[in-house]
This record gives sequence, structure tokens and C-alpha cells, in this order.
Amino acid sequence: GHDYFNVKELLEAKMPYDILHLLKTAGEVAEELGYKVYCVGGFVRDLLLSYPNFDIDLVVEGEGEKLAISLAERLGGRVRIHKRFGTAVVIINDDFKIDVATARTEYYEFPAALPKVEKSSLREDLYRRDFTINTLAVALNPDRYGELIDYFGGRRDLEQKYIRILYNLSFIEDPTRIMRAIRFETRYGFTIEPDTLRLAQDAVERRMLGKLSYKRILQELILILSEPDPMPALIRMKEIGVWEYVLPDVDLDRADEGLWRRIPSVVAWFKERYHALYVKTWLVYLGAILALADQESREKFLACYPLDRQALKAVKEIEKAGMVWQEIAAARDIKSSWLDKLINGWEKESLIYLLLLVREEKIWEKIVEYLDRKEKIKLEINGHDLRILGLKPGPVYKKILDELYLLKLDGIVKDKDEEINMVKKWIKESWI
Ligand code: CTP
Repeated sequence: GHDYFNVKELLEAKMPYDILHLLKTAGEVAEELGYKVYCVGGFVRDLLLSYPNFDIDLVVEGEGEKLAISLAERLGGRVRIHKRFGTAVVIINDDFKIDVATARTEYYEFPAALPKVEKSSLREDLYRRDFTINTLAVALNPDRYGELIDYFGGRRDLEQKYIRILYNLSFIEDPTRIMRAIRFETRYGFTIEPDTLRLAQDAVERRMLGKLSYKRILQELILILSEPDPMPALIRMKEIGVWEYVLPDVDLDRADEGLWRRIPSVVAWFKERYHALYVKTWLVYLGAILALADQESREKFLACYPLDRQALKAVKEIEKAGMVWQEIAAARDIKSSWLDKLINGWEKESLIYLLLLVREEKIWEKIVEYLDRKEKIKLEINGHDLRILGLKPGPVYKKILDELYLLKLDGIVKDKDEEINMVKKWIKESWI
């Protein structure tokens, strides 16, 4: 029969105090309202795998919305409600979010469509999900707190390291699951269970991915490229036939392995050195992939997939990075002011890609010196000072300040006095 398994101690060993408090409070609030509440999905899966994950999804047998409101009140948070989906988000301290959903069942009006939703029990809610490892739940009501609920053999598949669907039509109804299977497989070092793999390949052969919008494929691709080491997943996509729907003409075997492997460390280094909180590692990977494509397939990709403006800009800069790097490598003397003309205003991801191309220590140092100065240096004089020097306001102000800035980038003028003296010299030489 079913073995009873309690994860209370596991939770207490792995989770910070505030999360434990939150789970316990959710159970208490549910009890008061006469509901049942469970935490489900990725959080439970990762708890059992000891893989860090603090994204809490709650499923409520009862009114999810009401539970969310009471929970927010109790924890001193806000709540945002999505009536149409029967879901709510409780937001604590403006940054910690808990998803709350009413237990529901989904059905698909036609393959690859977005699902229709109806209220139901926990079991039905879990049955509509993608893989057995994502169907585990933990009861939170006080009398059952910590009880692991495993209707579909999720724990067995975690132990056997299998990605397994719950019903044969799963990939037909939602072909993005094929990409999810590959992502979980490589993230956890699992394998897609043989019957599941066969059904995934069937769905690919039946061209189900072609029914998805470019937007949904892009979302899944971004998730894959956000994993610590995405290359094995991309190779797997190719094996299963998914890659053809993403970038058919890109030959992944041509990827520069050395460059690819340095991406995580260079991103980490860049974030630290330039206090850059948000660097999109996936965008560096995407740029690296698109750099392998020819002009035509790259343009086709950019025309179809809805990248936002910043991502588009980065991809285009990365496209040019190879040429820019050659120019830099060929230069005798690499001045910051000259680099500024080449790469001023580039996105962080493009700068990182450029650095990835550099193999010569000297060139690396020059670019870093430029970026360092760029971050530190600011002109100390402004239009007001130019006026005091007797210059008539006009377009010449910008010319002077731009030129001064370049001199400062090169270390030729160092402080306010030297800035003023330089302007005086220009006036004397009637450069202005
Ligand atoms: N889900 C699904 N089919 C999808 C997307 C999601 O069945 N196409 C289900 C999964 O069972 C998952 C849950 O919805 O557990 C929540 O989705 P998501 O937050 O994307 O997944 P996580 O499992 O939390 O994965 P990750 O660790 O990547 O966030």
C-alpha cells in the first residue's frame, strides 16, 4: 500500500525560519476557514532533491482567493488577485511572493491551446500537471502538517531519476512540455522515461511544436538558457528533433566550447566588478548561438521571435562583436577614448560577449581599464563653468564637454583644475 511519509523534519532542516512560519500560518488560516491547503509542485520536488527552491505554490481545496486575503492579512502582506484564473499572489515585503490557487482541473478544447479551467480536488489539480516528479504535495493543515501526498508515484520517479508524464496525451495537449522534460532532465541529471520519450518523439513527428506560438517557444528557450549549463539540453533538443523548430540552421557542433564554458564565470565576474545586479545570462547564450547562424537565419529568427528591445539591441551588438574584436586586436595602441567610439552604450550582455572573445591578456586589460574608467569617471565642470570662462552658450558646449570627457577617459586630464586649464588652452589656441 501507500507508505506514509512526513517531511516536517526535512522542511525544518532545509528551510529558513520565515518560510516555515509562512507554511505553518497558511495551514492555520486554512483550518480557520474550513479549507485544506497544500504546497505543491517544484517546491516539494526540490525539497526532496535538496535543490534550492523557495518558490512556494499553494493549492487550496476551498476558495483560494479568500485564503490568500486572510494569509496576507496575517503576514502583513499585500494580495493580487487574478479572478479569471482563480489564482492569487501574496506579496510580503515587496519581494517575497507566494502563489495561491484554488484546486482546479483543466481541459483543452483543442491540442496546443491554452487550457480551460474548472474547480476540483487536489488530486485532479495534480493530475493535469506535466510530470510525476511535479505532482507531489505537502499537507499544511495543523493536524496533517508535513504529510507527503504522492498520488502518481512522484517519489519513486525522483528516486529512479525519471521524467515521466501522467497520461499519454500530455505532450499533444501541451507541446512545451517536451522542452520542459529536456530542461528537467539536464538540470537534475535525470532521464526521460522510455515510454515518455517515445510519446515526446511522436508529438514532435506529428509536428505539434509547430502549433505553438513563437512567444511560447521563446519562453521555454529562455528557461533552458537560464539553466547553469544549457549546452547538454540544446544537444538533447537536437536529438529529439525539437531544435528544428527553434533554429534549424544553427549547427550546435560549431559552438566554441571554450567560449561557451567561460560564460558563467565571466558573467559572475562582470556582475561583481560593475555592480550589475541584472545581467541576462540567457541573452549571452542566445547571442552566442545566433552568432553561429548565417545572416539569413538570424534575421528570420529575429523577425519571428518576440525579443524585447533591449534583447534585440544586445543580439545585434553581439553580431558585430566579432568584427569589433578583430579591430581591437589589430590596433597598435588601444586607448579608452577609441574604445569608447566602438562600444559606448553597449548592453552589458554584449560587453560580456566581447570579453569572451578576447584571449590575449593585454587586450582584456585594456577593455577592462576602459570599462573601469567609464564607471568611475565623470566630468567635474559643466556648462556653468564654461560660461564663467566667457564662452557663449551654444552647440560648442557639447563639443567641448564631449572632447574633455574623452581626454579624461584617457587619463590626460585628471581633475577639475586640469579640465579648466584645458578649456583655457583651447580658447587661447582659438580651437573654440
Ligand atoms: N506545469 C505543467 N505544464 C506546463 C507548465 C507547468 O503541467 N507547461 C505545472 C508543473 O507541474 C509545475 C507547475 O505547473 O510543477 C508550476 O510550473 P512552473 O513554476 O513553471 O514549474 P516548476 O516545477 O516550479 O519549475 P521551475 O523549477 O523551473 O520553476
